Amino acid sequence: MTKKIILNAFTQASVSPHAIGLWKHPDHEGHRHTTTDHWVRLAQKLEKGGFQAIFFADVIGFYDVYEGSARAALEQSVQVPAHDPLLLISAIAHATERIGFAVTASATYVPPYQLARQLSTLDHLTDGRIGWNIVTSYLESEAVNFGLDGLIPHDERYDRAEEYLDVVYKLWERSWDDGAVVRDVARNQYIDPSKVRPINHRGHYFNVPGAALVEPSRQRTPLLFQAGASPRGRDFATKHAEAIFTNTQNQKNATVELRAFERDITERLAKHSRSREDVAIIPAVVVVVGETEEAAKEKFEYLKSFVDYDGAAALLSGHSGIDFSQFDPDSYVEQLETDAIQSRLENYTSTNPDHRWTVREAILYHGLTLGSEAIVGTPEQIVDRLEELVVEGGVDGFNIRQTVSPSTLEEFIDYVVPELVRRGLYETSYDGETIREHYFGKGNERLAPSHYAHTVALDETKKEAVALHS
Ligand SMILES: Cc1cc2nc3c(=O)[nH]c(=O)nc-3n(C[C@H](O)[C@H](O)[C@H](O)COP(=O)(O)O)c2cc1C
Repeated sequence: MTKKIILNAFTQASVSPHAIGLWKHPDHEGHRHTTTDHWVRLAQKLEKGGFQAIFFADVIGFYDVYEGSARAALEQSVQVPAHDPLLLISAIAHATERIGFAVTASATYVPPYQLARQLSTLDHLTDGRIGWNIVTSYLESEAVNFGLDGLIPHDERYDRAEEYLDVVYKLWERSWDDGAVVRDVARNQYIDPSKVRPINHRGHYFNVPGAALVEPSRQRTPLLFQAGASPRGRDFATKHAEAIFTNTQNQKNATVELRAFERDITERLAKHSRSREDVAIIPAVVVVVGETEEAAKEKFEYLKSFVDYDGAAALLSGHSGIDFSQFDPDSYVEQLETDAIQSRLENYTSTNPDHRWTVREAILYHGLTLGSEAIVGTPEQIVDRLEELVVEGGVDGFNIRQTVSPSTLEEFIDYVVPELVRRGLYETSYDGETIREHYFGKGNERLAPSHYAHTVALDETKKEAVALHS
């Protein structure tokens, strides 16, 4: 294998967001998430380990589907407190030089004009190290607190996000020409108004007449991440995303499942005149490393002993949109219709025909892994499996989930990364400078020419709603 794999550290600006109950683990430092020191230390370590990006997941609501209440989520700190990841990034960027930042922001609740401005600002401040994980959001509690009557139906969230992206592409790619900032003392002009144009967007969901507020940043459009899993989600991802997140499944045929996913993505990309090379496929994994296989297995059991049933049930109920308090823990998980994340229950139903998950088993497993594969073993065994997933499963890299913060990622860097490097699968140095270059190689600072964004034109026939020049 000659291809170098991509590594993201998967985290969230919260206490123990993806390992529920692990806040009680004696080595867990998640309570320090309120400090910049905590994040700077983690990012500096990741940068030494050559990670392409630190990935900030985010939700902007409470996990209150379980029992119709936020009790369990509050008691077990299930992604609450939820700090705003955008606000962390400039502090971390100042203390690092190369590592990229993939930050989650909702295309359902934040107005496109505001998010375009925020991400452009961060792309300037990080000198091109910003990526955006486009989510459409799945919690009812997000919808009501952001002014809606309830959750917008699943597919309509994606329709709305389509128009949202048209708006931000117009702002990022069309509104300002390169060279619009002239700083010309002789002409008494800081910006040349003829090089800045209002986007005149008038659509079904959004009206945005004006021009972008921020001059073009190094990447213009941030590196685009998305995790569409449903058919509608995959169509969206293959049209827009440059990196597609997915879950591995904890099952015997995970490699085959990933390969099937990869083939499906490749076919869908072609419909959007894109090729497989235009996109990186990045599944999430949990890694538990030990000096011996026995030590790693013991460690995994120890980690599992911290998982809290109610807290993990709150997480799975929020992800799936189904209140798991109604089920007997010893009954089997059944596939049900949902308007939340459609693929979440499939982890415990259709994707593994050899194994029937009980409700208890699924909840406890979800609490530690979110349904991803847990790779437990020595550094050699872990790298064997990662390599197999790349070669046989056809993926390009991994989101490494944290169970204990920051030691999960520190151990990965200290023990697994050297083995990846020894086998020629990975390098800890950076060729390029921007996050897009970390993914696609030096020189790839801006969206690929084949990307849909380049076809989004401004409607020049409309009278300018905001006059910028006479
Ligand atoms: C690795 C990964 C990370 C995700 N992070 C977030 C997140 O931070 N916030 C969020 O609202 N959704 C997140 N999601 C959910 C996705 O945005 C999406 O809703 C989900 O994959 C299901 O897509 P579907 O509704 O098309 O099935 C994530 C999904 C995956 C696989």
